Amino acid sequence: DAIIYIKNNIDSTLTFRRSCREGICGSCAMNIDGLNTLACLKAIEEVKGDVKIYPLPHMPVVKDLVPDLKHIYAQLASIKPWLQTQSPAPSRERLQSPEDRAKLDGLYECILCFCCSTSCPSYWWNGDRYLGPSILLQAYRWIVDSRDEMTGERLDNLEDPFRLYRCHTIMNCTKACPKGLNPAKAIAEIKKLMVQRR
Ligand code: SF4
Ligand code: F3S
Ligand code: FES
Repeated sequence: DAIIYIKNNIDSTLTFRRSCREGICGSCAMNIDGLNTLACLKAIEEVKGDVKIYPLPHMPVVKDLVPDLKHIYAQLASIKPWLQTQSPAPSRERLQSPEDRAKLDGLYECILCFCCSTSCPSYWWNGDRYLGPSILLQAYRWIVDSRDEMTGERLDNLEDPFRLYRCHTIMNCTKACPKGLNPAKAIAEIKKLMVQRR
């Protein structure tokens, strides 16, 4: 409400992304009062005194509150975030047991707002090569999907000193997630799978 008010009444050049106004599109992520969060879910009353708003930290800025997401979307594409199969498609659909479906809880809800990656010091320093928590949570979402048949290739793609192992369990990611998800846990699960398959 505050930034829309500023744009409508004070400075029409103020530039920011937003769409859904209910925490589901992920486009209004920014740093408010020192924390990465979704502007549409952050109440003005929650901030004491002046409200300080910055774009997501350590990202190139296109304009005002709009970060350049080209690189992080290229990183997302690199983990092939879609179902990959080799077996012939069944006549109707690929089935999944309720237990296997439950393994996707806490992962499928990610809205790709990047509040986590942009709060991670490892991603700040090595974001050119480290995939960061948001992309690794997505990677794990496909690794644990019982219908996906490329698990080995997916793990091969992450077996790298930078892409996965630059996570040093700093945990800022999990603290920052406005959807209450736990990217640090997803990363730990990937590391466990790497050890198990060795
Ligand atoms: Fe945003 Fe949370 Fe997904 Fe990270 S894990 S991109 S903070 S919704
Ligand atoms: Fe960064 Fe989270 Fe790992 S803050 S270092 S991705 S636990
Ligand atoms: Fe969609 Fe805030 S406007 S998450």
